[in-house]
Amino acid sequence: MWDKRDLLDINSLSREEIELILHYARILEPFSGKGNKLGICKGEILITAFFEPSTRTEMSFATAMHTLGGDVQSFKPLGSSLEKGENKEDTICTLEQYCDILVIRDPEIDSVKRYADLVNIPVINAGDGSNEHPTQALLDLYTIWKTFNTINGLKMAIIGDLRYGRNLHSLIKIFGKFDNNKIIGISPPGLELPNNFKTGDFKGIITEMDKLNDILAEIRSDIVYVGRLRKEYLPLGENPMKYKYEINRDILNKLSEKTIIMHAFPRVDELNPEVDSDPRFLPFKQARYGLQTRMAIIALLLGHEKELMISNEELPTN
Ligand code: CP
Repeated sequence: MWDKRDLLDINSLSREEIELILHYARILEPFSGKGNKLGICKGEILITAFFEPSTRTEMSFATAMHTLGGDVQSFKPLGSSLEKGENKEDTICTLEQYCDILVIRDPEIDSVKRYADLVNIPVINAGDGSNEHPTQALLDLYTIWKTFNTINGLKMAIIGDLRYGRNLHSLIKIFGKFDNNKIIGISPPGLELPNNFKTGDFKGIITEMDKLNDILAEIRSDIVYVGRLRKEYLPLGENPMKYKYEINRDILNKLSEKTIIMHAFPRVDELNPEVDSDPRFLPFKQARYGLQTRMAIIALLLGHEKELMISNEELPTN
Protein backbone atom coordinates (compact mmCIF):
# COMPACT_ATOMS: atom_id res chain seq x y z
CA MET A 1 0.00 0.00 0.00
CA TRP A 2 1.16 3.52 -0.76
CA ASP A 3 1.92 5.64 2.32
CA LYS A 4 4.14 8.51 1.15
CA ARG A 5 2.85 12.07 1.31
CA ASP A 6 5.36 13.66 -1.09
CA LEU A 7 7.45 12.75 -4.12
CA LEU A 8 10.69 14.68 -3.74
CA ASP A 9 13.58 12.50 -4.91
CA ILE A 10 14.38 9.00 -6.11
CA ASN A 11 16.27 7.81 -3.04
CA SER A 12 13.20 8.18 -0.85
CA LEU A 13 11.27 5.75 -3.09
CA SER A 14 11.64 2.02 -2.53
CA ARG A 15 11.85 -0.34 -5.45
CA GLU A 16 8.35 -1.60 -4.55
CA GLU A 17 6.96 1.94 -4.61
CA ILE A 18 8.50 2.57 -8.02
CA GLU A 19 6.97 -0.67 -9.32
CA LEU A 20 3.61 0.37 -7.86
CA ILE A 21 3.68 3.66 -9.78
CA LEU A 22 4.53 1.82 -13.02
CA HIS A 23 1.80 -0.73 -12.37
CA TYR A 24 -0.89 1.92 -11.84
CA ALA A 25 0.39 3.96 -14.79
CA ARG A 26 -0.25 0.92 -16.98
CA ILE A 27 -3.77 0.52 -15.56
CA LEU A 28 -4.45 4.20 -16.26
CA GLU A 29 -2.92 4.19 -19.74
CA PRO A 30 -6.18 3.52 -21.68
CA PHE A 31 -7.70 6.58 -19.96
CA SER A 32 -4.77 8.96 -20.17
CA GLY A 33 -5.53 12.38 -21.63
CA LYS A 34 -7.20 13.34 -24.91
CA GLY A 35 -10.68 14.00 -23.59
CA ASN A 36 -10.97 11.12 -21.13
CA LYS A 37 -12.36 12.01 -17.73
CA LEU A 38 -12.30 9.82 -14.63
CA GLY A 39 -13.80 10.78 -11.28
CA ILE A 40 -10.92 9.69 -9.06
CA CYS A 41 -9.86 13.22 -8.01
CA LYS A 42 -13.26 14.91 -8.35
CA GLY A 43 -13.44 17.95 -6.06
CA GLU A 44 -9.65 18.18 -5.62
CA ILE A 45 -7.38 20.95 -6.89
CA LEU A 46 -3.77 20.74 -8.09
CA ILE A 47 -1.66 23.89 -8.32
CA THR A 48 1.49 24.05 -10.44
CA ALA A 49 4.03 26.59 -9.18
CA PHE A 50 6.92 26.75 -11.63
CA PHE A 51 9.68 29.25 -10.90
CA GLU A 52 11.55 28.00 -13.99
CA PRO A 53 10.22 27.48 -17.54
CA SER A 54 8.47 24.25 -18.54
CA THR A 55 6.34 22.83 -21.33
CA ARG A 56 6.08 19.06 -20.80
CA THR A 57 6.10 18.77 -17.01
CA GLU A 58 3.59 21.51 -16.30
CA MET A 59 1.25 20.62 -19.18
CA SER A 60 1.32 16.89 -18.46
CA PHE A 61 0.62 17.36 -14.75
CA ALA A 62 -2.30 19.64 -15.64
CA THR A 63 -3.69 17.18 -18.20
CA ALA A 64 -3.16 14.29 -15.79
CA MET A 65 -5.18 16.03 -13.07
CA HIS A 66 -7.94 17.02 -15.51
CA THR A 67 -8.15 13.41 -16.66
CA LEU A 68 -8.43 12.21 -13.06
CA GLY A 69 -11.45 14.51 -12.71
CA GLY A 70 -9.76 17.18 -10.58
CA ASP A 71 -9.20 20.89 -11.20
CA VAL A 72 -5.95 22.70 -11.94
CA GLN A 73 -4.63 26.17 -11.30
CA SER A 74 -1.32 27.47 -12.60
CA PHE A 75 0.58 29.96 -10.44
CA LYS A 76 2.67 32.27 -12.63
CA PRO A 77 5.52 34.16 -10.92
CA LEU A 78 5.27 36.95 -13.49
CA GLY A 79 2.46 39.25 -12.40
CA SER A 80 2.29 37.70 -8.91
CA SER A 81 3.08 39.36 -5.58
CA LEU A 82 6.64 38.04 -5.87
CA GLU A 83 7.10 41.20 -7.94
CA LYS A 84 6.19 43.25 -4.85
CA GLY A 85 8.94 41.51 -2.89
CA GLU A 86 6.98 38.61 -1.36
CA ASN A 87 9.21 35.60 -0.71
CA LYS A 88 8.65 32.14 -2.16
CA GLU A 89 8.00 30.56 1.24
CA ASP A 90 5.00 32.85 1.88
CA THR A 91 3.86 32.26 -1.68
CA ILE A 92 3.90 28.46 -1.23
CA CYS A 93 2.11 28.66 2.16
CA THR A 94 -0.55 30.86 0.54
CA LEU A 95 -1.01 28.47 -2.41
CA GLU A 96 -1.49 25.64 0.11
CA GLN A 97 -4.73 27.38 1.19
CA TYR A 98 -6.19 26.97 -2.32
CA CYS A 99 -5.35 23.40 -3.28
CA ASP A 100 -4.94 19.74 -2.29
CA ILE A 101 -1.56 19.07 -3.96
CA LEU A 102 1.33 21.23 -5.18
CA VAL A 103 3.71 20.60 -8.08
CA ILE A 104 6.77 22.83 -7.75
CA ARG A 105 9.79 23.58 -9.94
CA ASP A 106 12.49 25.87 -8.60
CA PRO A 107 16.05 26.78 -9.67
CA GLU A 108 17.55 26.15 -6.21
CA ILE A 109 18.89 22.70 -5.20
CA ASP A 110 16.82 21.11 -2.37
CA SER A 111 14.37 24.04 -2.27
CA VAL A 112 11.33 21.87 -3.05
CA LYS A 113 12.08 19.72 0.02
CA ARG A 114 12.19 22.90 2.07
CA TYR A 115 8.81 24.03 0.68
CA ALA A 116 7.34 20.58 1.38
CA ASP A 117 8.33 20.95 5.05
CA LEU A 118 6.33 24.17 5.26
CA VAL A 119 2.97 22.75 4.16
CA ASN A 120 0.56 19.96 5.12
CA ILE A 121 -0.42 18.79 1.64
CA PRO A 122 1.46 16.55 -0.86
CA VAL A 123 4.27 18.20 -2.80
CA ILE A 124 5.82 16.91 -6.01
CA ASN A 125 9.32 17.96 -7.04
CA ALA A 126 9.12 18.95 -10.72
CA GLY A 127 12.84 19.83 -10.77
CA ASP A 128 15.03 21.55 -8.17
CA GLY A 129 17.91 23.28 -9.87
CA SER A 130 20.58 20.89 -11.09
CA ASN A 131 19.67 18.34 -8.43
CA GLU A 132 16.78 16.02 -9.40
CA HIS A 133 13.67 15.63 -11.56
CA PRO A 134 12.16 12.41 -10.15
CA THR A 135 8.89 12.26 -12.11
CA GLN A 136 10.86 12.49 -15.39
CA ALA A 137 12.86 9.44 -14.30
CA LEU A 138 9.64 7.58 -13.47
CA LEU A 139 8.14 8.25 -16.90
CA ASP A 140 11.46 7.30 -18.50
CA LEU A 141 11.42 4.01 -16.63
CA TYR A 142 7.83 3.47 -17.76
CA THR A 143 8.95 4.05 -21.37
CA ILE A 144 11.78 1.52 -20.93
CA TRP A 145 9.38 -1.02 -19.39
CA LYS A 146 6.88 -0.56 -22.25
CA THR A 147 9.66 -1.01 -24.81
CA PHE A 148 11.60 -3.96 -23.37
CA ASN A 149 8.92 -5.47 -21.11
CA THR A 150 11.50 -5.43 -18.32
CA ILE A 151 13.43 -2.89 -16.25
CA ASN A 152 16.21 -5.32 -15.31
CA GLY A 153 19.31 -6.57 -17.11
CA LEU A 154 19.60 -3.58 -19.45
CA LYS A 155 22.51 -1.41 -20.50
CA MET A 156 22.09 2.35 -20.85
CA ALA A 157 24.52 4.91 -22.26
CA ILE A 158 23.79 8.40 -20.97
CA ILE A 159 25.36 11.15 -23.02
CA GLY A 160 26.15 14.77 -22.32
CA ASP A 161 25.79 17.11 -19.38
CA LEU A 162 25.90 14.75 -16.42
CA ARG A 163 26.97 17.52 -14.11
CA TYR A 164 23.87 19.72 -14.27
CA GLY A 165 21.30 17.40 -15.93
CA ARG A 166 18.82 16.89 -13.08
CA ASN A 167 16.74 14.38 -15.02
CA LEU A 168 19.92 12.36 -15.66
CA HIS A 169 20.72 12.34 -11.95
CA SER A 170 17.27 10.93 -11.14
CA LEU A 171 17.48 8.49 -14.05
CA ILE A 172 20.84 7.10 -12.90
CA LYS A 173 19.48 6.62 -9.39
CA ILE A 174 16.27 4.90 -10.49
CA PHE A 175 17.93 2.65 -13.08
CA GLY A 176 20.53 1.60 -10.51
CA LYS A 177 17.81 0.33 -8.17
CA PHE A 178 16.96 -2.62 -10.44
CA ASP A 179 18.81 -5.87 -11.08
CA ASN A 180 21.85 -6.17 -13.33
CA ASN A 181 21.42 -2.81 -15.04
CA LYS A 182 24.58 -1.15 -16.35
CA ILE A 183 24.93 2.60 -16.76
CA ILE A 184 27.71 4.17 -18.80
CA GLY A 185 27.88 7.95 -18.59
CA ILE A 186 29.72 9.70 -21.42
CA SER A 187 30.46 13.35 -20.86
CA PRO A 188 32.93 16.01 -21.96
CA PRO A 189 35.59 17.04 -19.41
CA GLY A 190 33.98 19.47 -16.96
CA LEU A 191 30.47 18.01 -17.22
CA GLU A 192 31.08 14.68 -15.47
CA LEU A 193 28.65 13.20 -12.93
CA PRO A 194 29.00 14.51 -9.34
CA ASN A 195 30.01 11.72 -6.93
CA ASN A 196 26.76 11.86 -4.92
CA PHE A 197 24.75 10.59 -7.91
CA LYS A 198 26.95 7.58 -8.68
CA THR A 199 25.54 4.11 -8.09
CA GLY A 200 27.48 0.84 -7.89
CA ASP A 201 26.71 0.09 -11.54
CA PHE A 202 27.79 3.43 -12.94
CA LYS A 203 30.84 3.71 -15.17
CA GLY A 204 31.92 7.16 -16.30
CA ILE A 205 33.72 7.92 -19.56
CA ILE A 206 35.05 11.46 -19.74
CA THR A 207 36.03 12.19 -23.31
CA GLU A 208 36.16 14.71 -26.12
CA MET A 209 32.78 14.24 -27.76
CA ASP A 210 34.11 13.76 -31.29
CA LYS A 211 34.84 10.19 -30.15
CA LEU A 212 31.15 9.49 -29.38
CA ASN A 213 30.59 7.57 -32.59
CA ASP A 214 33.20 4.93 -31.83
CA ILE A 215 32.44 4.75 -28.12
CA LEU A 216 28.74 4.08 -28.67
CA ALA A 217 29.46 1.49 -31.35
CA GLU A 218 31.69 -0.34 -28.88
CA ILE A 219 29.32 -0.13 -25.88
CA ARG A 220 26.31 -1.58 -27.76
CA SER A 221 23.78 -0.41 -25.17
CA ASP A 222 20.05 -1.10 -25.23
CA ILE A 223 19.31 2.56 -24.57
CA VAL A 224 21.08 5.74 -25.65
CA TYR A 225 19.80 8.57 -23.46
CA VAL A 226 20.79 12.05 -24.63
CA GLY A 227 20.89 14.99 -22.22
CA ARG A 228 20.61 18.68 -23.04
CA LEU A 229 23.51 20.97 -22.21
CA ARG A 230 22.16 23.02 -19.26
CA LYS A 231 23.48 26.39 -20.39
CA GLU A 232 21.40 28.05 -17.67
CA TYR A 233 23.52 26.41 -14.94
CA LEU A 234 26.98 27.00 -16.45
CA PRO A 235 29.11 29.50 -14.50
CA LEU A 236 28.84 33.05 -15.85
CA GLY A 237 31.18 33.69 -18.75
CA GLU A 238 31.72 30.01 -19.61
CA ASN A 239 31.40 29.34 -23.34
CA PRO A 240 28.87 26.51 -23.96
CA MET A 241 30.39 25.83 -27.40
CA LYS A 242 33.35 24.07 -25.77
CA TYR A 243 30.97 21.30 -24.62
CA LYS A 244 29.15 20.84 -27.92
CA TYR A 245 27.96 17.30 -28.77
CA GLU A 246 25.43 15.90 -31.20
CA ILE A 247 23.70 12.61 -31.91
CA ASN A 248 23.07 12.39 -35.65
CA ARG A 249 22.26 9.91 -38.39
CA ASP A 250 25.92 8.79 -38.67
CA ILE A 251 25.91 7.70 -35.04
CA LEU A 252 22.52 6.02 -35.34
CA ASN A 253 23.80 3.98 -38.28
CA LYS A 254 26.41 2.45 -35.99
CA LEU A 255 23.88 1.35 -33.34
CA SER A 256 21.96 -1.89 -33.13
CA GLU A 257 18.47 -1.90 -34.64
CA LYS A 258 17.15 -2.56 -31.14
CA THR A 259 18.87 0.37 -29.42
CA ILE A 260 16.35 3.06 -28.50
CA ILE A 261 17.10 6.80 -28.40
CA MET A 262 15.64 8.73 -25.49
CA HIS A 263 15.73 12.40 -24.49
CA ALA A 264 13.62 14.23 -21.89
CA PHE A 265 13.34 17.29 -24.18
CA PRO A 266 13.49 20.19 -24.75
CA ARG A 267 16.39 19.57 -27.14
CA VAL A 268 18.60 22.29 -28.49
CA ASP A 269 21.53 21.12 -30.68
CA GLU A 270 22.38 17.75 -29.16
CA LEU A 271 19.90 15.60 -31.11
CA ASN A 272 19.76 16.32 -34.84
CA PRO A 273 16.16 16.34 -36.20
CA GLU A 274 17.39 14.05 -39.01
CA VAL A 275 16.99 11.16 -36.52
CA ASP A 276 13.31 11.92 -35.73
CA SER A 277 11.87 9.61 -38.36
CA ASP A 278 13.84 6.63 -37.06
CA PRO A 279 11.59 4.12 -35.25
CA ARG A 280 14.18 3.96 -32.44
CA PHE A 281 13.57 7.66 -31.62
CA LEU A 282 11.24 7.80 -28.56
CA PRO A 283 11.16 11.34 -27.05
CA PHE A 284 7.55 12.06 -28.03
CA LYS A 285 6.47 8.67 -26.68
CA GLN A 286 8.20 9.62 -23.41
CA ALA A 287 6.19 12.86 -23.32
CA ARG A 288 2.98 10.87 -23.92
CA TYR A 289 3.79 8.32 -21.23
CA GLY A 290 4.30 11.22 -18.82
CA LEU A 291 0.51 11.48 -18.66
CA GLN A 292 -0.34 8.09 -17.19
CA THR A 293 2.78 8.11 -15.01
CA ARG A 294 1.81 11.47 -13.52
CA MET A 295 -1.84 10.39 -13.19
CA ALA A 296 -0.67 7.44 -11.08
CA ILE A 297 1.58 9.69 -8.97
CA ILE A 298 -1.15 12.27 -8.28
CA ALA A 299 -3.75 9.61 -7.47
CA LEU A 300 -1.41 7.78 -5.07
CA LEU A 301 -0.27 10.93 -3.27
CA LEU A 302 -3.88 12.03 -2.85
CA GLY A 303 -4.74 8.70 -1.21
CA HIS A 304 -6.75 7.15 -4.06
CA GLU A 305 -4.99 3.80 -4.29
CA LYS A 306 -8.24 1.96 -3.52
CA GLU A 307 -9.91 3.46 -6.59
CA LEU A 308 -6.92 2.40 -8.71
CA MET A 309 -6.93 -1.17 -7.38
CA ILE A 310 -10.21 -2.10 -9.06
CA SER A 311 -10.10 -3.38 -12.62
CA ASN A 312 -9.61 -0.76 -15.30
CA GLU A 313 -13.08 -1.36 -16.80
CA GLU A 314 -14.52 -0.20 -13.49
CA LEU A 315 -12.48 2.96 -12.88
CA PRO A 316 -14.94 5.61 -11.69
CA THR A 317 -15.86 8.19 -14.33
CA ASN A 318 -17.02 11.71 -13.69
N1 CP B 1 11.34 17.13 -19.69
C1 CP B 1 11.03 18.30 -19.07
O1 CP B 1 11.17 18.46 -17.86
O2 CP B 1 10.55 19.24 -19.94
P1 CP B 1 10.02 20.67 -19.53
O3 CP B 1 11.21 21.46 -19.04
O4 CP B 1 9.43 21.23 -20.81
O5 CP B 1 9.01 20.51 -18.44
